[in-house]
Amino acid sequence: MLGLLNRIILTILISIITTLSFADDQHSHGANTNYLNTDWSFKGIFGTFDRASLQRGYQVYQEVCAGCHSVQHLSYRNLSEKGGPEFSVEEAKAIASQFEVEDGPNIDGEMFMRPARLSDKFVKPYPNVEASTAANGGAYPPDMSVLAKARAGGADYIYSLLLGYDEAPSGFELDDGVYYNKYMPGNKIKMSAPLSDGLVEYSDGTQATTEQMSKDVTAFLVWAAEPHLEAQHRMGFKAIIYLIILLALVYMSKQKVWSRFGSRKEPEEETFDKIERAATEYEGEDPKTFK
Ligand code: HEC
Repeated sequence: MLGLLNRIILTILISIITTLSFADDQHSHGANTNYLNTDWSFKGIFGTFDRASLQRGYQVYQEVCAGCHSVQHLSYRNLSEKGGPEFSVEEAKAIASQFEVEDGPNIDGEMFMRPARLSDKFVKPYPNVEASTAANGGAYPPDMSVLAKARAGGADYIYSLLLGYDEAPSGFELDDGVYYNKYMPGNKIKMSAPLSDGLVEYSDGTQATTEQMSKDVTAFLVWAAEPHLEAQHRMGFKAIIYLIILLALVYMSKQKVWSRFGSRKEPEEETFDKIERAATEYEGEDPKTFK
């Protein structure tokens, strides 16, 4: 029989192991679709981003998706921060300077445009939700800051959606500007397939297949939604090591405390044993020497 404390310790150990094996998997629950499978480098407790993939993902976002989708939480400096695409500061500055932002007022009280700096937020394609909806046939291209976190299925959903365009089955009604997608809830999406083979030319020479671009841009969007994912993984790992050490200490002190009550006999039984032993010893003595 396990003691209560042993059982508690065992329960904690089991929960640590389950947490470890299911870490980051919460997205896949409740999804009613079989998403396409990819091995993401950022999954699991030891998961880290693939820098080259994030850099390519940024390129795809910028050259393709940024025409319609904003990522309003990101600043250009994030591109050079640890745990992200890790462009050099110089590269991030060069990227920022390609965009124009409004600043001001100047001494004449006028607003003016200037090249973006590291501290500026990513430039948005439209000034507001209404403008972006109006420009997209009444459908709002969602901001991508937290999209990977907001959608059930997360990375797998976005990746599958990008590759999920197909001919509509016969009898499936589609209005103008609406497309069939296997992974969109309801199978109707008001975004035409944004990617096609060779759409971008990767600067690192990687072949820009639709699958490759989908994978890279999805990784980029996961990072955009969770820029501190790697730091969190490291933290979680440390916490688990700490818990294991703590458990070992609790277990050891428990053993020590309980060893004082090592005998399984009842106290009275033990006293009785002692008297009996004394009696036997006494009986064994030679009465003559007992003076
Ligand atoms: C021409 C404009 C346009 C471009 C370019 C574009 N999108 Fe979209 N996107 C939209 C619109 C509009 C919607 C909303 C569709 C709807 O609600 O039916 C959308 C929706 C989405 C959704 C959300 C589906 C959901 O669950 O609501 C994802 C994910 C997405 N786009 C990813 C991308 C990615 C990644 C790129 C770049 C590779 C991209 N889009 C490029 C217009 C665009």
